Amino acid sequence: MKKFKQELARRVAEAAGRQIDPAEVLSLLEAPPEPEMGDLAFPCFTLSKKLKQSPAKIAGELAGKLKAEVSTSFKQVEAKGPYLNFFFAEAALARETLTDIRHQADRFGGSEEGQGQTVVIDYSSPNIAKPFHIGHLRSTVIGAALCRIYAALGYQPIGINHLGDWGTQFGMVMAAYSESPDEAELEEHPIRYSLKLYTEFNRRAEAEEAAREQARQWFRRLEAGDPEATALWQKFRDLSLQEFQRIYTRLGISFDHYMGESFYNDKMEDAITRVEKAGLMEKGEDGAELVRLEEEKMPPLLLRKSDGATLYATRDLAAAIFRWERYHPARILYVVGTPQELHFRQLIRVLEKMGCDWAQNLVHVKFGHVQGMSTRRGTAVFLEDVLDEAAARAREKIAENVKAGKLDPASATEELAEAIGIGALIAQDLKNRRERDVVFDWDQALNFDGETGPYLQYTHARICGILRKSGKPVPEKADFGLLSEPETRELLKALARFPEAVERAGQENEPSLITDCLFELTKVFNVFYNTHRVIGSGRSLEEARLLLVDSVRQVLKNGLTLLGIQPLEKM
Ligand code: ARG
Repeated sequence: MKKFKQELARRVAEAAGRQIDPAEVLSLLEAPPEPEMGDLAFPCFTLSKKLKQSPAKIAGELAGKLKAEVSTSFKQVEAKGPYLNFFFAEAALARETLTDIRHQADRFGGSEEGQGQTVVIDYSSPNIAKPFHIGHLRSTVIGAALCRIYAALGYQPIGINHLGDWGTQFGMVMAAYSESPDEAELEEHPIRYSLKLYTEFNRRAEAEEAAREQARQWFRRLEAGDPEATALWQKFRDLSLQEFQRIYTRLGISFDHYMGESFYNDKMEDAITRVEKAGLMEKGEDGAELVRLEEEKMPPLLLRKSDGATLYATRDLAAAIFRWERYHPARILYVVGTPQELHFRQLIRVLEKMGCDWAQNLVHVKFGHVQGMSTRRGTAVFLEDVLDEAAARAREKIAENVKAGKLDPASATEELAEAIGIGALIAQDLKNRRERDVVFDWDQALNFDGETGPYLQYTHARICGILRKSGKPVPEKADFGLLSEPETRELLKALARFPEAVERAGQENEPSLITDCLFELTKVFNVFYNTHRVIGSGRSLEEARLLLVDSVRQVLKNGLTLLGIQPLEKM
């Protein structure tokens, strides 16, 4: 599609006597709402302003000029009101698109735009010994998709888990554990156990000053590098991390680095010194150290409490500096929920005030919250419970579909339930613009007929089935002129739009643009498949259609893989 658009932009700019730049034409091209209006439309309003003529008159004149030129890519151009409508030459659209897909295969949709550039992606980042929020699942799913999308666009993504593995909660956990350690429980269920110790001790600390002091002491020992405290902290961290990793494996995710908050323990002093040197550090009434942001109409960013303790923000400041100096990335993304918007605005502003011009490359990739994701045992507290629930519910759905004759009983395995359950979870998360709040509903997420993960997986498997049934190898090329019916052209256009969806998903850090594209693709595929025979349609037509159907398979596979959903071949 891009090549077509570029060619078109060049020709329109020329026909307009270079009164407009090809790049500007390119940015103005639209997909017409109805197929009768052509394949691409150019609105003439911008030119109308420049030339001080009515847009309809300009459209008419340009159509006249462009008609005179025959092109192998476009067969027709029409002026309709203020729009210029272009129609692709059938064979050209099919040839370009299907040849590209065939040659690029698993790489189709990607590009080299990011060659030589790095993007740091800070995502997932749960807290040890504090409750897991569904927000952490969203961050995990969105962040992992962004890592794959940037990789496809030629960037080198660096996925970092900014684990919450430091802070006063560890003081409580260690104080509680040292009183009555249950080593077996720690080995067996580290995440659950840490949270239990924290919650119980926290309750006590609210009432007793002695308990609070005990926790503070433990944390002070940890910060000072006391061997006993460090060893205990290490043990909790290692065991929790192992459990988190098991969950990440189920989601098909791995991180380049687990650089949690603790990693910056020895880097905060330097960050604070830089703030001081920039003349930004001020003292609050109680002796806390902070950077005022009055001009920006934001509350001050607190960097050291009155008792000398550092904070979440201090570690983020040190982390930003560290990441910039180590990787010189084109962007640093923070995939974190909207509630932390102020924190990141403050952080970026303080860095700018410090003279770090790279701070403009920090992006808070924020997302809305999820409502209603509960398990049968109650509100979800642990990521693992959510995944188990997804697999269990998928198992039931699969059984229903087997009964209804929709699924092959032989394929109803545990692996299928896991793949479908997790696919449903991911698609539900990545189907809306990330900043929107989501109301989660298991039945809806697992519906095989709606805009869901299982539906995309099912369509992919069905296409694999068609290709298997044909019993023939998919041809390299075909008589592209045969792929000209309206339903077929809509399908070709949907395929051709995929690379742009990937590109924009990266630009806007918005994986849902890919999900949209896949839902549109499956929709037009179904229209095509209900209208036209593939197997048995006659030698050259069958070949052309097999190549087309195989391309749909390939694009679905690439899209699902980018999102983190398993493209199933059999269901
Ligand atoms: N652990 C934090 C939380 O659960 C999220 C960390 C996000 N990343 C960052 N660099 N602040 O709220």
